[in-house]
Amino acid sequence: MSTFGIIGAGNIGSQVARVAIAQGNEVVIANSRGPETLADLVAELGPKARAATAEEAAAAADVAVVSVPLRAYRDIPVEPLAGKIVLDTNNYYWERDGHVEALDRGEATVSGLLQEHLPTSKVVKAFNHITAPSITTDGTPAGTENRRALVTASDYPEAIELVTRLYDGAGFDTVSVGPLSESWRAERDRPAYGARQNAEQLEANLARAQRVI
Ligand SMILES: NC(=O)c1ccc[n+]([C@@H]2O[C@H](COP(=O)([O-])OP(=O)(O)OC[C@H]3O[C@@H](n4cnc5c(N)ncnc54)[C@H](OP(=O)(O)O)[C@@H]3O)[C@@H](O)[C@H]2O)c1
Repeated sequence: MSTFGIIGAGNIGSQVARVAIAQGNEVVIANSRGPETLADLVAELGPKARAATAEEAAAAADVAVVSVPLRAYRDIPVEPLAGKIVLDTNNYYWERDGHVEALDRGEATVSGLLQEHLPTSKVVKAFNHITAPSITTDGTPAGTENRRALVTASDYPEAIELVTRLYDGAGFDTVSVGPLSESWRAERDRPAYGARQNAEQLEANLARAQRVI
């Protein structure tokens, strides 16, 4: 049993909370407006969940999750996440987040930016190319024919292992694209983004991605 400190309690953060709790973990979850605004969500999640500030969620975390609009990534507390595995669900929507030149030029990755912001954490890409509702509806048992696969990437093998276990428990196979420097292959508008794919299809789509689109 671990405590998941989840920063961002929207579509994806709340779904990752459901997955974490279903696998026997505890959840401390935060948004930008304060814990009191999360009373309904916490009541629904049950006794293994509590609401907190982002700072408190980061401090309580054995494993952290960042699921905020990318424009807010610099608000994520740094010191309380030192040494911890941090799942990054974020995607870059310049229409929402404003332009980030290094991403527009294909010289950075979304998760690489978070890793730079959290230099002593172990950032790992997770749940970024599946729509939120599907996280709790599309999973199937291991070995199911045509099982859906999700991508991960990290510079830390232990972070990839953790996400692989979490995905499997939620009903998904894992395809690792390797280090964060390769994680652009699963970013927005690439072939792997969005569509339901099994592991073989996902590997093929990651391989044919273009760096600049
Ligand atoms: N929606 C999807 O299907 C989907 C799928 C895969 C990946 N993603 C990506 O995952 C990320 C989250 O998406 P979402 O759809 O879950 O977004 P969302 O529903 O808008 O939720 C965002 C959450 O982040 C919180 N937040 C914003 N700024 C914050 C800050 N400075 N400190 C702490 N919390 C903050 C918000 O809190 P308040 O409400 O209090 O402001 C809210 O709880 C995005 O990067 C998105 O592109 C989304």
